Amino acid sequence: AERYAVVGQPVAHSRSPWIHARFAELTGQAITYERLPAPLDGFAATVGAFRDAGGRGCNVTLPFKFEAARLADELSPRAQLAGACNTLRFDGARVIGDNTDGVGLVCDIVQQAGVAIAGQRVLLVGAGGAAAGVLGPLLEQRPAEVVVANRTRDKAEALRAQHAALATRCGVRLQVVPLDRPGTAFDIVVNATAASLAGGAIPVPADALRSGKLAYDMMYGAAAAPFLAWAQAHGAIGRDGLGMLVEQAAESFFLWRGVRPPAGPVLAELRALLA
Ligand code: ATR
Repeated sequence: AERYAVVGQPVAHSRSPWIHARFAELTGQAITYERLPAPLDGFAATVGAFRDAGGRGCNVTLPFKFEAARLADELSPRAQLAGACNTLRFDGARVIGDNTDGVGLVCDIVQQAGVAIAGQRVLLVGAGGAAAGVLGPLLEQRPAEVVVANRTRDKAEALRAQHAALATRCGVRLQVVPLDRPGTAFDIVVNATAASLAGGAIPVPADALRSGKLAYDMMYGAAAAPFLAWAQAHGAIGRDGLGMLVEQAAESFFLWRGVRPPAGPVLAELRALLA
């Protein structure tokens, strides 16, 4: 069996090993997928040792997604745009970096949740690695506009500058707005901040939500609960990031194996397992 892993700190609670094991069973692929915790100053060494031991590729999670993009010898266009990688593929001694987070988010919203992004007004809250990974694929869906709000405004401005050409090409208005006054009644609000992990308050005012429309938290489980409860209390439809997790895994699996696993059924199984 060929070896894959998720590298991060922490990875003890990662659901990725379970997801990839199901994908392997359902597609008949002979792979193993393990948890690989890396010390904060030891990401490159951990990845190098795994590759030397016969690893074929890995997913990368917090806090190493930016470092993974610097480590890669070659980046896919979407990883280049994000400046961050969640997927590495080892091609001999070469490390090929990609980012499947954005495709994962878009697939979960459009295909699993059945909500169109095209023509809609989207608020992206946050400007860290999680937000960087999804902005490009969101723009490619051709929403009417995307506004980015972040506590540290400079980071949102940098993200906008990096994506300005793509936004123009896609005909999307892309703006940076203040976190406390982002505008009102968005069709889709995506929380890409770590605010709830840090025990922080909900980062945006409730009038950013629109009744009956989507409020998406890229986290899942306990970390997503405060945002989803708040969104539902204000009439929006809350959705956690579990589907994004499964969809980004499916895209990574496809990059590594050339075979598309059934994301929908595996998401349903995972939801039942965690319920
Ligand atoms: P990730 O890779 O998960 O995005 P990150 O790069 O550390 O992690 O970014 C975390 C995001 O959550 C950032 O947008 C951060 O805002 P800053 O850029 O101002 O740091 C946001 N964030 C974290 N804690 C927050 C809080 N209590 N309130 C608002 N935003 C917060």
